[in-house]
Amino acid sequence: MTRVFSGIQPTGNVHLGNVLGALVPWTEDQHRADSLFCVVDLHALTRPQDPDELRATTLRLTQILLAVGLDPEVCTLFVQSHVPQHAELAWLMECTAAYGELSRMTQFKDKSGKGGFVSAGLFTYPALMASDILLYDTDLVPVGDDQRQHVELTRDLAERFNSRYGPTFTVPQATFPKAGARIMDLQDPTAKMSKSEDQAPGTILLLDEPKSIEKKIKRAVTDTESEVRFDVAAKPGVSNLLSILGAATGRTPEEAAAGYEQYGPLKADTAAAVVERLAPIQARYAELAADPGETTRLLAVGAAKATELAAATVTRAKANIGLLPR
Ligand code: AMP
Ligand code: TRP
Repeated sequence: MTRVFSGIQPTGNVHLGNVLGALVPWTEDQHRADSLFCVVDLHALTRPQDPDELRATTLRLTQILLAVGLDPEVCTLFVQSHVPQHAELAWLMECTAAYGELSRMTQFKDKSGKGGFVSAGLFTYPALMASDILLYDTDLVPVGDDQRQHVELTRDLAERFNSRYGPTFTVPQATFPKAGARIMDLQDPTAKMSKSEDQAPGTILLLDEPKSIEKKIKRAVTDTESEVRFDVAAKPGVSNLLSILGAATGRTPEEAAAGYEQYGPLKADTAAAVVERLAPIQARYAELAADPGETTRLLAVGAAKATELAAATVTRAKANIGLLPR
Protein backbone atom coordinates (compact mmCIF):
# COMPACT_ATOMS: atom_id res chain seq x y z
CA MET A 1 0.00 0.00 0.00
CA THR A 2 1.21 3.52 -0.78
CA ARG A 3 2.78 5.25 2.20
CA VAL A 4 2.06 8.98 2.70
CA PHE A 5 3.90 11.24 5.14
CA SER A 6 3.42 14.93 5.84
CA GLY A 7 4.26 17.36 8.59
CA ILE A 8 3.07 20.70 9.90
CA GLN A 9 4.83 23.07 12.26
CA PRO A 10 3.27 24.08 15.56
CA THR A 11 3.80 27.79 15.14
CA GLY A 12 1.33 30.62 14.71
CA ASN A 13 -2.35 30.11 14.10
CA VAL A 14 -3.99 27.65 11.74
CA HIS A 15 -5.78 29.60 9.02
CA LEU A 16 -8.26 28.88 6.27
CA GLY A 17 -5.44 28.33 3.74
CA ASN A 18 -3.95 25.58 5.90
CA VAL A 19 -7.36 23.96 6.36
CA LEU A 20 -8.50 23.98 2.73
CA GLY A 21 -5.02 23.62 1.18
CA ALA A 22 -3.49 20.99 3.43
CA LEU A 23 -5.54 19.59 6.30
CA VAL A 24 -8.72 18.70 4.42
CA PRO A 25 -6.68 16.98 1.66
CA TRP A 26 -4.89 15.03 4.42
CA THR A 27 -8.20 13.76 5.78
CA GLU A 28 -8.89 12.44 2.27
CA ASP A 29 -5.41 10.95 1.89
CA GLN A 30 -5.74 8.95 5.10
CA HIS A 31 -8.37 6.71 3.48
CA ARG A 32 -6.44 6.19 0.25
CA ALA A 33 -3.03 5.35 1.65
CA ASP A 34 -1.17 4.21 4.72
CA SER A 35 -0.66 7.72 6.12
CA LEU A 36 1.43 9.32 8.82
CA PHE A 37 0.92 12.94 9.91
CA CYS A 38 3.40 14.61 12.19
CA VAL A 39 3.34 17.78 14.27
CA VAL A 40 6.94 18.81 13.68
CA ASP A 41 7.87 20.51 16.94
CA LEU A 42 11.62 19.99 16.37
CA HIS A 43 11.33 22.08 13.21
CA ALA A 44 9.73 24.86 15.24
CA LEU A 45 12.90 25.03 17.35
CA THR A 46 14.85 26.37 14.38
CA ARG A 47 13.58 29.75 15.56
CA PRO A 48 13.47 30.87 19.20
CA GLN A 49 10.23 29.72 20.89
CA ASP A 50 8.67 30.46 24.24
CA PRO A 51 8.57 27.03 26.00
CA ASP A 52 5.03 27.33 27.42
CA GLU A 53 3.76 28.68 24.13
CA LEU A 54 5.41 25.86 22.14
CA ARG A 55 3.87 23.19 24.40
CA ALA A 56 0.42 24.81 24.15
CA THR A 57 0.64 25.27 20.39
CA THR A 58 1.72 21.67 19.84
CA LEU A 59 -1.26 20.37 21.81
CA ARG A 60 -3.66 22.81 20.13
CA LEU A 61 -2.46 21.93 16.64
CA THR A 62 -2.91 18.21 17.37
CA GLN A 63 -6.47 18.91 18.53
CA ILE A 64 -7.13 20.91 15.39
CA LEU A 65 -5.89 18.03 13.23
CA LEU A 66 -8.21 15.66 15.06
CA ALA A 67 -11.08 18.15 14.78
CA VAL A 68 -10.58 18.56 11.03
CA GLY A 69 -10.94 14.79 10.69
CA LEU A 70 -7.66 12.94 11.02
CA ASP A 71 -8.73 9.67 12.58
CA PRO A 72 -6.11 7.97 14.76
CA GLU A 73 -7.78 4.64 13.97
CA VAL A 74 -7.11 5.21 10.28
CA CYS A 75 -3.82 7.13 10.14
CA THR A 76 -0.82 7.58 12.43
CA LEU A 77 -0.83 11.00 14.10
CA PHE A 78 2.09 11.90 16.32
CA VAL A 79 4.45 14.56 17.60
CA GLN A 80 7.94 14.55 16.08
CA SER A 81 9.88 14.85 19.36
CA HIS A 82 8.06 11.79 20.75
CA VAL A 83 9.91 9.62 18.24
CA PRO A 84 13.65 10.07 18.93
CA GLN A 85 14.63 8.46 15.62
CA HIS A 86 13.81 11.74 13.81
CA ALA A 87 16.74 13.53 15.45
CA GLU A 88 18.93 10.44 15.19
CA LEU A 89 18.52 9.92 11.45
CA ALA A 90 18.78 13.69 10.91
CA TRP A 91 22.47 13.48 11.88
CA LEU A 92 23.11 10.86 9.19
CA MET A 93 21.27 13.11 6.73
CA GLU A 94 23.37 16.14 7.75
CA CYS A 95 26.46 14.11 7.00
CA THR A 96 25.02 13.04 3.64
CA ALA A 97 24.00 16.57 2.57
CA ALA A 98 26.62 18.93 1.19
CA TYR A 99 27.13 22.35 2.74
CA GLY A 100 26.67 23.97 -0.67
CA GLU A 101 23.43 22.11 -1.26
CA LEU A 102 21.93 23.35 2.02
CA SER A 103 23.18 26.87 1.24
CA ARG A 104 21.10 26.86 -1.94
CA MET A 105 17.77 26.25 -0.18
CA THR A 106 15.64 29.29 -0.97
CA GLN A 107 13.72 29.04 2.31
CA PHE A 108 17.00 29.25 4.25
CA LYS A 109 18.13 32.22 2.19
CA ASP A 110 14.78 34.00 2.77
CA LYS A 111 14.60 33.31 6.48
CA SER A 112 18.26 33.91 7.29
CA GLY A 113 18.27 37.10 5.24
CA LYS A 114 15.65 38.70 7.46
CA GLY A 115 18.14 39.35 10.25
CA GLY A 116 17.78 38.31 13.88
CA PHE A 117 19.18 35.11 15.37
CA VAL A 118 19.98 32.53 12.69
CA SER A 119 20.39 29.11 14.32
CA ALA A 120 22.50 26.33 12.83
CA GLY A 121 19.26 24.34 12.93
CA LEU A 122 17.67 26.74 10.45
CA PHE A 123 20.48 25.79 8.08
CA THR A 124 20.25 22.02 8.61
CA TYR A 125 16.42 22.00 8.73
CA PRO A 126 16.10 20.23 5.33
CA ALA A 127 18.19 17.33 6.66
CA LEU A 128 15.71 16.91 9.53
CA MET A 129 12.85 17.07 7.04
CA ALA A 130 14.56 14.39 4.92
CA SER A 131 14.86 12.25 8.04
CA ASP A 132 11.11 12.69 8.77
CA ILE A 133 10.23 11.45 5.31
CA LEU A 134 12.80 8.67 4.87
CA LEU A 135 12.16 7.06 8.28
CA TYR A 136 8.82 5.71 7.07
CA ASP A 137 9.67 4.38 3.59
CA THR A 138 7.44 7.15 2.31
CA ASP A 139 6.20 7.08 -1.28
CA LEU A 140 4.28 10.37 -1.39
CA VAL A 141 4.71 13.67 0.45
CA PRO A 142 1.77 16.07 0.11
CA VAL A 143 3.15 19.59 0.60
CA GLY A 144 2.71 23.17 -0.49
CA ASP A 145 4.72 24.52 -3.38
CA ASP A 146 7.19 26.21 -1.00
CA GLN A 147 8.39 22.76 0.15
CA ARG A 148 9.15 21.47 -3.35
CA GLN A 149 12.88 22.14 -3.06
CA HIS A 150 13.11 20.37 0.31
CA VAL A 151 11.47 17.23 -1.06
CA GLU A 152 13.79 17.33 -4.10
CA LEU A 153 16.74 17.45 -1.69
CA THR A 154 15.26 14.51 0.24
CA ARG A 155 15.21 12.50 -2.98
CA ASP A 156 18.83 13.43 -3.72
CA LEU A 157 19.93 12.44 -0.21
CA ALA A 158 18.08 9.12 -0.39
CA GLU A 159 19.64 8.30 -3.76
CA ARG A 160 23.11 9.34 -2.61
CA PHE A 161 22.87 7.27 0.57
CA ASN A 162 21.55 4.27 -1.34
CA SER A 163 24.31 4.44 -3.93
CA ARG A 164 27.07 4.88 -1.32
CA TYR A 165 25.88 2.36 1.24
CA GLY A 166 23.46 0.06 -0.55
CA PRO A 167 19.64 0.05 -0.73
CA THR A 168 18.37 1.72 2.46
CA PHE A 169 15.67 4.28 1.71
CA THR A 170 12.57 4.51 -0.46
CA VAL A 171 12.93 7.53 -2.77
CA PRO A 172 9.83 9.68 -2.14
CA GLN A 173 7.88 11.97 -4.40
CA ALA A 174 6.16 15.26 -3.57
CA THR A 175 2.50 15.78 -4.40
CA PHE A 176 0.81 19.16 -4.54
CA PRO A 177 -2.78 20.07 -3.83
CA LYS A 178 -4.91 20.68 -6.92
CA ALA A 179 -5.09 24.22 -8.21
CA GLY A 180 -7.83 26.23 -6.57
CA ALA A 181 -6.93 25.10 -3.07
CA ARG A 182 -4.44 27.96 -2.86
CA ILE A 183 -6.06 30.60 -0.67
CA MET A 184 -4.84 34.19 -0.88
CA ASP A 185 -4.83 37.03 1.64
CA LEU A 186 -8.17 38.88 1.68
CA GLN A 187 -6.45 42.27 1.84
CA ASP A 188 -3.67 41.44 -0.64
CA PRO A 189 -4.98 38.73 -2.98
CA THR A 190 -1.63 38.46 -4.75
CA ALA A 191 -0.02 37.07 -1.54
CA LYS A 192 -0.76 33.70 0.05
CA MET A 193 -2.92 33.76 3.15
CA SER A 194 -0.43 33.05 5.94
CA LYS A 195 -0.01 32.46 9.64
CA SER A 196 0.12 35.81 11.34
CA GLU A 197 -0.97 37.93 14.23
CA ASP A 198 -4.43 37.34 15.65
CA GLN A 199 -5.87 40.55 14.28
CA ALA A 200 -4.74 40.33 10.63
CA PRO A 201 -7.73 41.44 8.52
CA GLY A 202 -6.64 39.42 5.48
CA THR A 203 -6.36 36.06 7.27
CA ILE A 204 -9.29 33.91 8.41
CA LEU A 205 -8.25 31.80 11.37
CA LEU A 206 -9.74 28.38 11.91
CA LEU A 207 -10.90 29.39 15.37
CA ASP A 208 -12.33 32.80 14.32
CA GLU A 209 -15.86 33.61 15.50
CA PRO A 210 -18.55 33.75 12.77
CA LYS A 211 -18.84 37.53 13.22
CA SER A 212 -15.16 38.02 12.62
CA ILE A 213 -15.25 35.79 9.53
CA GLU A 214 -18.17 37.79 8.13
CA LYS A 215 -16.41 41.08 8.80
CA LYS A 216 -13.15 39.98 7.17
CA ILE A 217 -14.88 38.68 4.04
CA LYS A 218 -17.12 41.74 3.76
CA ARG A 219 -13.99 43.93 3.78
CA ALA A 220 -12.06 41.73 1.35
CA VAL A 221 -10.40 43.64 -1.48
CA THR A 222 -12.15 43.22 -4.86
CA ASP A 223 -11.88 45.59 -7.84
CA THR A 224 -13.74 48.50 -9.42
CA GLU A 225 -15.62 46.41 -11.99
CA SER A 226 -18.64 44.57 -10.80
CA GLU A 227 -18.51 41.41 -12.87
CA VAL A 228 -18.14 38.11 -11.03
CA ARG A 229 -15.80 35.79 -12.92
CA PHE A 230 -12.84 33.56 -12.13
CA ASP A 231 -9.79 35.27 -13.62
CA VAL A 232 -6.82 35.22 -11.24
CA ALA A 233 -4.66 37.60 -13.28
CA ALA A 234 -7.25 40.28 -13.93
CA LYS A 235 -9.43 39.83 -10.84
CA PRO A 236 -7.34 38.39 -8.00
CA GLY A 237 -9.67 39.47 -5.18
CA VAL A 238 -12.89 38.16 -6.70
CA SER A 239 -11.13 34.99 -7.87
CA ASN A 240 -9.91 34.36 -4.34
CA LEU A 241 -13.46 34.66 -3.00
CA LEU A 242 -14.57 32.16 -5.65
CA SER A 243 -11.72 29.80 -4.70
CA ILE A 244 -12.78 30.00 -1.07
CA LEU A 245 -16.48 29.57 -1.83
CA GLY A 246 -15.68 26.65 -4.16
CA ALA A 247 -13.32 24.92 -1.73
CA ALA A 248 -15.75 25.39 1.17
CA THR A 249 -18.60 23.84 -0.82
CA GLY A 250 -16.73 21.17 -2.79
CA ARG A 251 -16.87 22.88 -6.18
CA THR A 252 -14.42 24.48 -8.60
CA PRO A 253 -14.14 28.28 -8.51
CA GLU A 254 -15.74 28.43 -11.97
CA GLU A 255 -18.73 26.44 -10.77
CA ALA A 256 -18.98 28.65 -7.70
CA ALA A 257 -19.17 31.78 -9.92
CA ALA A 258 -22.42 30.73 -11.58
CA GLY A 259 -25.41 32.93 -10.77
CA TYR A 260 -23.58 35.89 -9.22
CA GLU A 261 -23.80 39.34 -10.73
CA GLN A 262 -22.68 41.45 -7.79
CA TYR A 263 -19.97 41.34 -5.19
CA GLY A 264 -22.31 41.82 -2.21
CA PRO A 265 -24.16 38.52 -2.50
CA LEU A 266 -20.93 36.70 -3.43
CA LYS A 267 -19.31 37.95 -0.23
CA ALA A 268 -22.35 37.12 1.90
CA ASP A 269 -22.53 33.57 0.53
CA THR A 270 -18.79 33.05 0.81
CA ALA A 271 -18.87 34.12 4.46
CA ALA A 272 -21.85 31.86 5.15
CA ALA A 273 -20.15 28.91 3.45
CA VAL A 274 -16.93 29.39 5.43
CA VAL A 275 -18.81 29.73 8.72
CA GLU A 276 -20.77 26.58 7.93
CA ARG A 277 -17.66 24.65 6.85
CA LEU A 278 -15.75 25.61 10.01
CA ALA A 279 -18.60 25.24 12.54
CA PRO A 280 -18.38 21.46 13.07
CA ILE A 281 -14.56 21.64 13.20
CA GLN A 282 -14.73 24.37 15.84
CA ALA A 283 -17.27 22.39 17.86
CA ARG A 284 -15.15 19.23 17.79
CA TYR A 285 -12.08 21.28 18.70
CA ALA A 286 -13.87 22.73 21.75
CA GLU A 287 -14.67 19.19 22.96
CA LEU A 288 -11.07 18.04 22.55
CA ALA A 289 -9.68 21.18 24.18
CA ALA A 290 -11.88 20.51 27.22
CA ASP A 291 -10.27 17.08 27.68
CA PRO A 292 -6.53 17.26 26.94
CA GLY A 293 -5.96 13.82 28.51
CA GLU A 294 -7.69 12.18 25.55
CA THR A 295 -5.34 13.91 23.07
CA THR A 296 -2.32 12.87 25.13
CA ARG A 297 -3.53 9.27 25.03
CA LEU A 298 -4.07 9.35 21.27
CA LEU A 299 -0.61 10.85 20.76
CA ALA A 300 0.98 8.06 22.78
CA VAL A 301 -0.65 5.50 20.50
CA GLY A 302 0.57 7.41 17.42
CA ALA A 303 4.11 7.68 18.78
CA ALA A 304 4.24 3.95 19.50
CA LYS A 305 3.13 3.07 15.96
CA ALA A 306 5.57 5.54 14.40
CA THR A 307 8.49 4.41 16.59
CA GLU A 308 8.13 0.83 15.48
CA LEU A 309 8.52 1.80 11.82
CA ALA A 310 11.20 4.42 12.46
CA ALA A 311 13.35 2.14 14.60
CA ALA A 312 13.61 -0.45 11.82
CA THR A 313 14.76 2.17 9.32
CA VAL A 314 17.33 3.70 11.66
CA THR A 315 18.77 0.26 12.48
CA ARG A 316 19.14 -0.43 8.75
CA ALA A 317 20.69 2.98 8.02
CA LYS A 318 23.17 2.74 10.91
CA ALA A 319 24.24 -0.74 9.89
CA ASN A 320 24.67 0.23 6.23
CA ILE A 321 26.70 3.35 6.99
CA GLY A 322 29.08 1.34 9.15
CA LEU A 323 28.20 2.15 12.75
CA LEU A 324 29.16 -0.74 15.02
CA PRO A 325 26.05 -2.49 16.37
CA ARG A 326 25.86 -2.40 20.14
P1 AMP B 1 2.49 26.69 6.62
O1 AMP B 1 1.35 27.39 7.29
O2 AMP B 1 3.14 27.58 5.60
O3 AMP B 1 3.43 26.00 7.56
O4 AMP B 1 1.85 25.54 5.74
C1 AMP B 1 1.25 24.37 6.25
C2 AMP B 1 0.51 23.70 5.13
O5 AMP B 1 -0.60 24.51 4.70
C3 AMP B 1 1.36 23.47 3.87
O6 AMP B 1 1.00 22.24 3.28
C4 AMP B 1 0.96 24.62 2.97
O7 AMP B 1 1.08 24.34 1.61
C5 AMP B 1 -0.51 24.82 3.31
N1 AMP B 1 -0.85 26.24 3.12
C6 AMP B 1 -0.32 27.28 3.78
N2 AMP B 1 -0.86 28.45 3.37
C7 AMP B 1 -1.75 28.13 2.39
C8 AMP B 1 -2.63 28.90 1.57
N3 AMP B 1 -2.71 30.22 1.69
N4 AMP B 1 -3.40 28.25 0.69
C9 AMP B 1 -3.33 26.90 0.58
N5 AMP B 1 -2.54 26.11 1.32
C10 AMP B 1 -1.75 26.72 2.22
N1 TRP C 1 8.93 21.94 6.36
C1 TRP C 1 7.50 21.77 6.30
C2 TRP C 1 6.80 23.15 6.33
O1 TRP C 1 7.37 24.09 6.85
C3 TRP C 1 7.00 20.93 7.44
C4 TRP C 1 7.60 19.57 7.41
C5 TRP C 1 8.58 19.09 8.22
C6 TRP C 1 7.27 18.52 6.51
N2 TRP C 1 8.87 17.81 7.92
C7 TRP C 1 8.10 17.42 6.88
C8 TRP C 1 6.37 18.41 5.44
C9 TRP C 1 8.06 16.22 6.17
C10 TRP C 1 6.33 17.19 4.75
C11 TRP C 1 7.16 16.12 5.11
O2 TRP C 1 5.66 23.24 5.88
